[in-house]
Amino acid sequence: MTFTWGVATSAYQIEGAAFTDGRTASIWDTFARDVVGETGEVACDHYHRMPDDVQLIKSLGVDAYRFSVSWPRVQPGGKGPANPAGLDFYDRLVDELLAAGIDPWLTLYHWDLPQELEDAGGWPVRDTAYRFADYSALVFDRLSDRVRNWGTVNEPWCVAYLGYEHGVHAPGRRDFQAALDATHHLLLGHGLVASSLRREGTVVGPALNIGTATPASGDPIDIAAARLADGMGTRIFLDPIARGAYPADVLEHLAARGHELPVRDGDLKIISAPIDILGVNFYFGQDFSGYGVDGATADANGLPIVREIMPDVPRTALGWPITPDRFTTLLLRLQHDYGIPLAVTENGAVYEDVPDAGGFIADHERTAYLAAHVDAVFAARSAGADVRGYFAWSLMDNFEWAEGYTKRFGLVHVDYETQMRSLKRSALWFRDRVRSGA
Ligand code: BGC
Repeated sequence: MTFTWGVATSAYQIEGAAFTDGRTASIWDTFARDVVGETGEVACDHYHRMPDDVQLIKSLGVDAYRFSVSWPRVQPGGKGPANPAGLDFYDRLVDELLAAGIDPWLTLYHWDLPQELEDAGGWPVRDTAYRFADYSALVFDRLSDRVRNWGTVNEPWCVAYLGYEHGVHAPGRRDFQAALDATHHLLLGHGLVASSLRREGTVVGPALNIGTATPASGDPIDIAAARLADGMGTRIFLDPIARGAYPADVLEHLAARGHELPVRDGDLKIISAPIDILGVNFYFGQDFSGYGVDGATADANGLPIVREIMPDVPRTALGWPITPDRFTTLLLRLQHDYGIPLAVTENGAVYEDVPDAGGFIADHERTAYLAAHVDAVFAARSAGADVRGYFAWSLMDNFEWAEGYTKRFGLVHVDYETQMRSLKRSALWFRDRVRSGA
């Protein structure tokens, strides 16, 4: 079976040209300006440097490139007809990629909701799912003659919970019920799009960020906490997609908290439209305990404690634990529980990139991180997981959301003053690894 090697990016993180050729603001333009203090207005200026960037991707010898389409570029304001200049950009990108022998893996939603749709209520509002389906149809009509791989939503957990419950991502709201409403409407949007895009020859699926909710000990209290964390983080998305039902334990937990998901008749049928591939974005695994730091097992409202604990292992420069073994376990578990073909759509690490005297970034730690995780993928494959691809995050340093530009995930270094791109050691390693094959 063929294995797809690729690199990944997303529109807001690299394109820049935020208000060029008719593009309007997304929630990330607003949040970046008001909260982060650095914005994607220029970013990697990929919008103007795209042909060179495609050559850069080609130089890595990868089979595929995963990128996202900016909704407010293609459909300013999130409603109405397509903006021809916006669609033209992706049309040219796809042509450049194909001419370079690179398979485009297109993601329709990587977090840049048009601001006007947020002003009308955002993902917590049901209509947003239908707006998403309309916008997706515009992109599909234009590009489906050349694009085979269609990603629906990227990391709906981050969109719903970081954006609407914790307020640390755009749009910065802090309202648990809004996050639940967003969860359901992101799934509904995914389902509407999956069912209409799926036809002979297309490969359709979402990309989820999935950690490993491992119990901190064999204590039943810890086991129950880990199960609940897995329910709220992973099964709340995967069960409706793969099985057409929200997990019963999650619904019970929500009811105990006085909340429910805004499900209407027929929604779960839409959400469980068949998919061809499940994109897995993996960075680290974590443990959960049912005991608070003070030893309590319930909070002031009588709800169970679910405390995340970072495994005691070396960390990346973002403080994320390095847990490749858990990656293997996770892929096997997904295979076992859901039986959907898998692709690793993101995996990578932040390190302090210090250039040597010649200006070269010998990022041994990032290289080791990637190598360990690629090995973990092949260990999972050997043990029976149907993993069909691996995309390194990210092609190049870029706008790392709430962290701005200080945190670098790239295989390629970007000098934001000159926009010069230079391959780090990890890029050279990846190129060699791709060449040596699966
Ligand atoms: C996102 C990327 C992000 C990366 C590192 C994922 O959550 O899809 O856009 O840059 O992780 O934080």
